Amino acid sequence: MDNNKLIIGNMKMNLTLKEVKEYIKQIEPDKNFYVCPPSIYLSYFNDLGYNTGIQNVSEFDMGAYTGEISAIQAVSMGVDLVIVGHSERRMYLYETDEIINNKVKKSLLSGMDVVLCIGETFEEKEQNKTKDKLNRQLIEDLKNLYKEDIKHVIIAYEPIWAIGTGKIPTNEEISDISNFIKNTVNKIYGLKPKVLYGGSINENNIEELNKINSIDGFLIGGACLKPNKFKKIIETVDKK
Ligand code: PGA
Repeated sequence: MDNNKLIIGNMKMNLTLKEVKEYIKQIEPDKNFYVCPPSIYLSYFNDLGYNTGIQNVSEFDMGAYTGEISAIQAVSMGVDLVIVGHSERRMYLYETDEIINNKVKKSLLSGMDVVLCIGETFEEKEQNKTKDKLNRQLIEDLKNLYKEDIKHVIIAYEPIWAIGTGKIPTNEEISDISNFIKNTVNKIYGLKPKVLYGGSINENNIEELNKINSIDGFLIGGACLKPNKFKKIIETVDKK
């Protein structure tokens, strides 16, 4: 990980093979961004030289776990980054903090950088419980790591109410949360992690979001599916 702002496109469960083939014609690989395609398409992107991440890994090593992909297998495909604990997996696939902690540990052991997603619901925000929630997620999801590991952990702050909704927090709110996350991890491990923001980022709001000094990059969902929108976001972040 270098000092440039990190841009990661999370494609989620989108695109057919035909659409992937179109996509790669429209956006060239570049060291300044990552794509996290559905796993079955990873080799298309890897073979062309894109930086790739995987959207999830198993909490187990290898063996009889039908449908799962292990961290070791992801690394063997040339993947060096993994998204862990996305709110959609916490919600729809019932991933607990304990499962997420196992996935973080397996991924780090295999040599991948981990993008750990954390964030509050709208109700938690309304009840002023954002920091309590984030504090708990950080403690439980990063349990029993070594200080050295934190160099390979990136925290993505993704308010659940901002994902795919068009609503985003103010720059001041994001900056305050980013500092809170860095200080919380620093208190536990003596190191500050990189912090990304994610949730409803698009080609129009990226310029404003890019003004937040304490943010080290962005995790982009919907807007990364359209090559021209994604390119505009990348160019805006690089320009600064
Ligand atoms: P969005 O998704 O950009 O579509 O809001 C972000 C994410 O879920 O990572």
